[in-house]
Amino acid sequence: MTNPPFLPASQTAWQNLQALATQVEHTPLSQLVDTPKRYPDFAFQVCGLNVDYSKQKIDQTVLDGLLELAHCAEFEQGFSRQTRGELVNSTEGRPALHTMLRTPDALQDAAYRPTIAAAQKQMFAFVDDVIDGRWRGYTNKVINHVVHIGIGGSHLGPELAVEALSHFSAHALRFSFLASVDGHLLQQLTREIDLEQTLFIIASKSFSTQETRSNAQSLRSWFLERTGSLEALARHFVAVSANVEAARDFGIAPENVFAMWDWVGGRFSVWSCVGLPLALCIGSENFRAFLGGAHEMDQHALNAPNAQNVPALMALIETWNSNFLNKDTHAVLVYDRRLRLLPDFLQQLEMESNGKSVHSDGSPVGELLTAPIIWGGEEPNGQHAFHQLLHQGTRSFSADFIACKLADHHFEDHHHWLLANCLSQSQAMLLGQPDSLLEGDELIDHKRVRGNHPSTTILLDNLCPRTLGAMLALYEHKVSFQSMLWKLNPFDQWGVELGKQLSQGIYKDISTTTSGQQLDASTQGLVEHINKRGGNVT
Ligand code: F6P
Repeated sequence: MTNPPFLPASQTAWQNLQALATQVEHTPLSQLVDTPKRYPDFAFQVCGLNVDYSKQKIDQTVLDGLLELAHCAEFEQGFSRQTRGELVNSTEGRPALHTMLRTPDALQDAAYRPTIAAAQKQMFAFVDDVIDGRWRGYTNKVINHVVHIGIGGSHLGPELAVEALSHFSAHALRFSFLASVDGHLLQQLTREIDLEQTLFIIASKSFSTQETRSNAQSLRSWFLERTGSLEALARHFVAVSANVEAARDFGIAPENVFAMWDWVGGRFSVWSCVGLPLALCIGSENFRAFLGGAHEMDQHALNAPNAQNVPALMALIETWNSNFLNKDTHAVLVYDRRLRLLPDFLQQLEMESNGKSVHSDGSPVGELLTAPIIWGGEEPNGQHAFHQLLHQGTRSFSADFIACKLADHHFEDHHHWLLANCLSQSQAMLLGQPDSLLEGDELIDHKRVRGNHPSTTILLDNLCPRTLGAMLALYEHKVSFQSMLWKLNPFDQWGVELGKQLSQGIYKDISTTTSGQQLDASTQGLVEHINKRGGNVT
């Protein structure tokens, strides 16, 4: 007999949590935190990360209720199905095997081992050739600038990781990333680039994404206008794609096309050859350490019981925040400049994966809220911008605070201030400012800070390939576990297709004459306004 599908709202475990939430809502967070062994009970050390859930609005009763939910949602079985290669992406009939890319060769599934080994061998040999100066441009000069062209999953992970780990780079390669089709950056790049020393990486799993194709085509034409040589082009353009034929048609030499596969989703692909810029930045050995850190987290996610499983707990606690305590948004507050692109990366990872309104079987989720809005920024800059709303505004939110215990600069005092800011903000969100401290102040109503906002603090021992790999894998697995709670397919993204289709017709309306399509009155008005640009712009 098969189990009935897990429909959250109908589960007793879910209903029990709803009842608990009405009690906990009225319990101040400060009271929950002020209990013996709070920190040791709720902070976990894993793979060089200290993940502290002690400032969350949970106690042991809530946690037990959440663990019961995890049990009903079959966390262990679901995650093992994913990592074993079952077709968890049901609408596209694909597995989601990003974890296989960071599994040591000997432990990889034999069906995937040769293809992964071949791709990694090709990538690492290329990386060594570029870094050691054996790979040269068409005028025999070494490469000193890498321009990565790609968008979404083919951009966010590589740029985040290159920025985060550039202190591991032992050479003078410079990196630029071209994602949007906005021509301003393209123009700036074409003014700056020394094409004799630049390597262009076109990263597109499909090789059909419009933004990437437009950028790649424009750079190709620009390059050929200056060199007039397809042979020269082959020394400067490489591709990462699952669509090898399209890459070849573009003019990339077949041996310079690095593999991608349909069993790795775009937003989970930094571990594949899509991570080529990172490998070029930090070198092959460090890239392996990045994979190693993620693999450690994979093993933890697979083997740790739910009560100690850090990504599973993260998924449960954030679902508690959004579905039971009605937190609308989740802020990622990053106290390390090198990780300033993490909120962008997590927006795609979480919102493209779990921003869905049907279950994986196609039935509507109804009233159930799925992924919250993820946003955030580099701190402490945000403290002087949007924290006012966090402390005194009317919106409810939860937050992740992310910082590194150790810095990689010599200004120790700056790091102490940075960490002090991080801890004081999470403390202010926890405790607020009690009225007793403002007694007698005539502006008490304006100065009052209520606190009571839940947060998690993630402290990396230091920022290195291993800890970055582990942290990104932690968030990936949180997404998987949450998808099990909400019964979603986190590996497709059908919602982005409509905009792509519509843009084709509107592009024709704007760039040539008319597509002949019937537009709504508003869009038609805007198209006509744009098309008057020749005469009417003042
Ligand atoms: O924006 C949708 C999307 O399909 C993402 O999921 C993907 O990461 C991105 O476009 C880029 O796709 P590709 O690598 O095929 O160019």
